[in-house]
Amino acid sequence: MTAEANIDRDDLAIGIVGAGAMGRGIAQVAAEAGFAVRLYDVSLEAVGSALKTIATMVDRAAAKGRITAQDAAHIRSRVTVTDTLSDLAPCHVVIEAIVEDLDAKQTLMRALEAIVADDCLIASNTSSLSITAIAAACRLPARVAGMHFFNPVPLMRVVEVVGGLRTAPETTEALVRLAGRFGHRPVRVADSPGFLVNHAGRGLITEGLRIVQEGVATPHDVDRVMREAAGFRMGPFELFDLTGLDVSAPILDLIYAQFYQEPRFRPTPLPRLRVAAGLYGRKSGEGFYRYPDGRQEQPPEPVPPTLPDRPPVWVSAADAARRAPVIDLLAGVGAEIDDGAEPHRDSLCLVTPLGADATTTAIEQGLDAERTMAVDTLFDLAGRRTLMATIVTADRYRAAAHALFAGAGGKVTVIRDSTGFIAQRVVATIVNIACEIAQQRIAAPDDIDAAVTLGLGYPEGPLALGDRLGGLVIHAILRTLHDMTGDPRYRPSPWLSRRAALGASLRTPEA
Ligand SMILES: NC(=O)c1ccc[n+]([C@@H]2O[C@H](COP(=O)([O-])OP(=O)(O)OC[C@H]3O[C@@H](n4cnc5c(N)ncnc54)[C@H](O)[C@@H]3O)[C@@H](O)[C@H]2O)c1
Repeated sequence: MTAEANIDRDDLAIGIVGAGAMGRGIAQVAAEAGFAVRLYDVSLEAVGSALKTIATMVDRAAAKGRITAQDAAHIRSRVTVTDTLSDLAPCHVVIEAIVEDLDAKQTLMRALEAIVADDCLIASNTSSLSITAIAAACRLPARVAGMHFFNPVPLMRVVEVVGGLRTAPETTEALVRLAGRFGHRPVRVADSPGFLVNHAGRGLITEGLRIVQEGVATPHDVDRVMREAAGFRMGPFELFDLTGLDVSAPILDLIYAQFYQEPRFRPTPLPRLRVAAGLYGRKSGEGFYRYPDGRQEQPPEPVPPTLPDRPPVWVSAADAARRAPVIDLLAGVGAEIDDGAEPHRDSLCLVTPLGADATTTAIEQGLDAERTMAVDTLFDLAGRRTLMATIVTADRYRAAAHALFAGAGGKVTVIRDSTGFIAQRVVATIVNIACEIAQQRIAAPDDIDAAVTLGLGYPEGPLALGDRLGGLVIHAILRTLHDMTGDPRYRPSPWLSRRAALGASLRTPEA
């Protein structure tokens, strides 16, 4: 029987090397899927603790009625601890989840190849090493691939199946089927830094960092806007705090270096500085947020000003489609609308730029910059509303805009002038990076969207999100950002430019 055909057998035997956080999770899902698992670790303590964790998890599932007590007993009995690596000889597939070190993984691969049959597939759960480099140590590199699970494995139902340069397509296809038998969603990924999920996740965090570095907004502002306007479960700084900056900061540097200083992945000096200060996040009690008693402390919301006399409000018609929701909202909060073709002498002037700053927009539209405020209309105004002042907006007009948009229970974030609002910059960067992943054929559009929703917990895949907001809109934001800053990190991916120009979906594949 060939290695690929082996995968479909009922008596498939799976070996797992490394019984740490990941190895025990993979062992659990394999046993739950009905497979016999042999688990090996250099540390007896690790295997003992792995068996305990698995037993606790399946017994808990039985106590909650999700499985029967008999099922729980069967699952536990399918995991066998082995004392030596050579006990893995009868396995049809071995998945390694040992320490993240190229030498250690290569040494293990060589040792495994001397033990298992030639048709045994070998998968590595590495998160940052090249599969091609790990497989280079092997006599038969064609049978080696990445099988990158996420922590905690039983809950994170996605696996990146990574083909190295010498991996046989049959190997990746077989491991895709295996992931499916585990009940996970497999995504096919070419060997490249950060694979798919960690690569796609660069946008949220690096653009969040840039916004803070430019002094446009605070980390808390960025998080609130990403959660309450863009609909993300977590903003970038909450995510840093959860993961631990001591873990995330080196990955920021690593992926930037692995892509040869690609500006799209450029970090800022802030993470390293905060690591030096020990401000790791939740685990150290303080990060971008404080955690008195282990609970995240949210800084207070700025109180909306109350104004005795509000100026009338004039909304620019430079972009009619973006003007309409602003007029609707203002009508709903009882604002006096100035309907003139030009603003009245005292009116607050509202503009709705895409990718541009408020000051430049006011000048280009011939408006008084001291009376101008910009409103972000990328997302529905029912969520948190973001306002941006020009560098000279007078306090009275800033306060008037804040008070109006806080009407009817609205939440408002007022930021300093910026090329693009928080949500525009972050979302356009995320969509652009996903487009570039598709362009470079690292993964197919459907796999990109599935991996990002399941692996990063985003509310929508980045390509689907780009389609919903409009490819042309995302393209316009990036083009303007690129023109105004001169920073190549904002150059639109050709994948995006071509599809936006055609009015085609960002998920349109290419032959
Ligand atoms: N923790 C995560 O969130 C995560 C997510 C995805 C992938 N990964 C990757 O999975 C792998 C394991 O990570 P982890 O978090 O489970 O680590 P871990 O430290 O919890 O466990 C590693 C285990 O491997 C054992 N080990 C080390 N060298 C060995 C060897 N030569 N032979 C047998 N056992 C050996 C150790 O005793 C330890 O029990 C790494 O490659 C890591 O990059 C981790």
